[in-house]
Amino acid sequence: MSTHEVAATPGGPGSADAVARESGAAWTERYTHAVMNTFGAPQRVLVRGEGAYVWDADGNRYLDLLAGIAVNALGHAHPTLTAAISAQLGTLGHVSNFFATPTQVALAERLLELCRAPAGSRVFFTNSGTEANEAMVKMARRTGRPRILALEGAFHGRTMGALALTAKAAYREPFEPLPGGVEFLPFGDTAALEAAMADDVAAVVLEPIQGEAGVRPLPPGYLARARELTAQHGALLVLDEVQTGMGRTGAWLAHQHPHLGGGAVPDVVTLAKGLGGGFPVGAVVAFGERAATLLGPGQHGTTFGGNPVAAAAALTTIGVIERDGLLAQVTAVGEALRTGIAAAGHPLVTGVRGEGLLVAVGLRPDAAAALAARALAAGFIVNPVAPDAIRLAPPLILTAEQAADFVAFLEADGRAPADGTADAGAA
Ligand SMILES: Cc1ncc(COP(=O)(O)O)c(C=O)c1O
Repeated sequence: MSTHEVAATPGGPGSADAVARESGAAWTERYTHAVMNTFGAPQRVLVRGEGAYVWDADGNRYLDLLAGIAVNALGHAHPTLTAAISAQLGTLGHVSNFFATPTQVALAERLLELCRAPAGSRVFFTNSGTEANEAMVKMARRTGRPRILALEGAFHGRTMGALALTAKAAYREPFEPLPGGVEFLPFGDTAALEAAMADDVAAVVLEPIQGEAGVRPLPPGYLARARELTAQHGALLVLDEVQTGMGRTGAWLAHQHPHLGGGAVPDVVTLAKGLGGGFPVGAVVAFGERAATLLGPGQHGTTFGGNPVAAAAALTTIGVIERDGLLAQVTAVGEALRTGIAAAGHPLVTGVRGEGLLVAVGLRPDAAAALAARALAAGFIVNPVAPDAIRLAPPLILTAEQAADFVAFLEADGRAPADGTADAGAA
């Protein structure tokens, strides 16, 4: 029996017997009547997880190669994380931000260290990535400058300020007018950035690797040039590492890889997703005195942000990543995964890209949805992030053997009839 089953009220919703009573189809039917339809139909109803695996309501097991979209850094039901969250909840679960807690302070100090932030740097805590970016937009506004530069393909979240920086028309247009002053520049085009820069630019906001756009790394040299230009014009260089941060790419932050960051030190980094290992927590790290004092007393706030349970979850996640040498494991397993995928000889695969355990399998046009469905049927959770790409963002604890299991699936799928309709078999 899993921890959550033990913890649930006997006979209540979420208890083992309640889950066992109903099939995935029955839960899905109830979902459609009770939950707002913003995500489309759920692919499966998941009832428990352990390590890199999850199980659905019908008893099928899946290797979770998506990890809640780059969230479950330590996999599911990690005993150290579960114990730390439970202990904190049993000691002090929540206090208002009129008070401090040791866990919150310790987490802020750890983040400043991992971010290699200079003296004068400070952290603001949030509950999610979009809230971290929302705070960052308010910081940019406080420079008194009107323009913010973002890139085509950018995804920074769904709240109004973060959405203003998100490029995709389908996400933006139903909610216009959005906060103004944002300009989208062609992805990775240094000349376009040079042309757009001026002294009225508040911030340049970049993802070192665009995740939602299909795992697209910035071209070599771009980020370093952005640092030179922002410094020259007194603008903030903001790196959204919500998806790429906290070990996902084999470094604490993606821009710390010299080939991605070119040694650039940003003014602001935003974090969330993997930070709490599955517990909701985000952060804005402001580098140096100037960025750290853009928001003053009363200018921003949150009820839950930096909650001691969230802080304990993040501190423990960081501690386990360090204790178990997971950055090195991410680098090695990511490399093996990419090499294996490239060597699998799948006729639909056109390439493989990414860093550490943020990987995209490039595919022929419109092949992603059907391949993801076959993978799911065969027991692998993957994400068709674009019509021609599948994204893998597994737990950082993924082993080489588990990566090889997915490669073996790809090899078998590649040998199946090439019309894309073959069922690779049930889980
Ligand atoms: C780069 C980036 N920024 C921001 C967000 C928004 O984070 P959240 O969904 O926690 O609001 C995401 C989510 O996918 C993201 O990938």
